[in-house]
Amino acid sequence: MLDVKDITISYQKRPVVQSLNFHLDQGQVLGLVGESGSGKSTIIKAILGILGRSGQVDKGQILYQGTNLTTLSERDYRKIYGKEIAMVFQDAKASLNPIRTIGSQFIEYLKSHEKISDQEARSQGIQALKMVELKDPEEIMDQYPSSLSGGMAQRVGIALALALKPKLILADEPTSALDVTNQAQIVFELERLKKKEKLTMILVTHNLAVASYLSDQLLVLEKGKVVDYGPCQEVLKNPKSSYTKGLIQNIPSLGEG
Ligand SMILES: Nc1ncnc2c1ncn2[C@@H]1O[C@H](COP(=O)(O)OP(=O)(O)OP(=O)(O)O)[C@@H](O)[C@H]1O
Ligand SMILES: [Mg+2]
Repeated sequence: MLDVKDITISYQKRPVVQSLNFHLDQGQVLGLVGESGSGKSTIIKAILGILGRSGQVDKGQILYQGTNLTTLSERDYRKIYGKEIAMVFQDAKASLNPIRTIGSQFIEYLKSHEKISDQEARSQGIQALKMVELKDPEEIMDQYPSSLSGGMAQRVGIALALALKPKLILADEPTSALDVTNQAQIVFELERLKKKEKLTMILVTHNLAVASYLSDQLLVLEKGKVVDYGPCQEVLKNPKSSYTKGLIQNIPSLGEG
């Protein structure tokens, strides 16, 4: 589904991700792990075409179902975003509009992609909220982000990302803004969705416990370079780099960090 071939990404000519290769099959979760500044979000942004003015993919290809995303125009990206590839943000509360109800944000998002009525969009939104096991979805539709708990807001963020049934989900630290209990719950929720909806996902996290719980493949980055990559259990059992070995020794439990 996704084939990243030898890409180098830089900001203002300074390479921050170098010679990156990975492959993602449908129904698989790739865990992208590395310390702060190692380039994790940069990779997600490159896939989404949102590196901004200072950033660019210098070489290589990002093939999504055979299409090279690095050469897409902004307009073509807009066709892909949401319906093909969607994003789950670190802090759903911050990424939602604080002065509009959840329902109106679902309706706007869905109507910007599909020719449907408000009513249809609302009912699709309710379906999506049910998908992430939120109780009283109708009530949530009429609420503002500020009245949701962190865990609920994150479920709403995941529901929004799933609402258009995208084929690929990019999740950048989807649990890091949460407290221990909610973090574990969101991890279990993603695990359940992975099985039930056969999610294909790139999961960015600095928490190796979270990554190894959810991922089929693990890719460990150190300063923009891949130091370990392979099936999750294999990387955990036989890490090649001392960097990964260190991470494994200091593996936080599913709640910390
Ligand atoms: N817009 C930008 N302009 C210039 N440099 C940037 C920009 N965005 C990120 N960088 C630099 O690129 C490198 C990688 O940053 P990136 O945000 O991808 O790291 P990360 O692994 O996601 O870190 P974190 O875990 O803190 O989110 C860092 O050195 C960062 O300072
Ligand atoms: Mg980041």
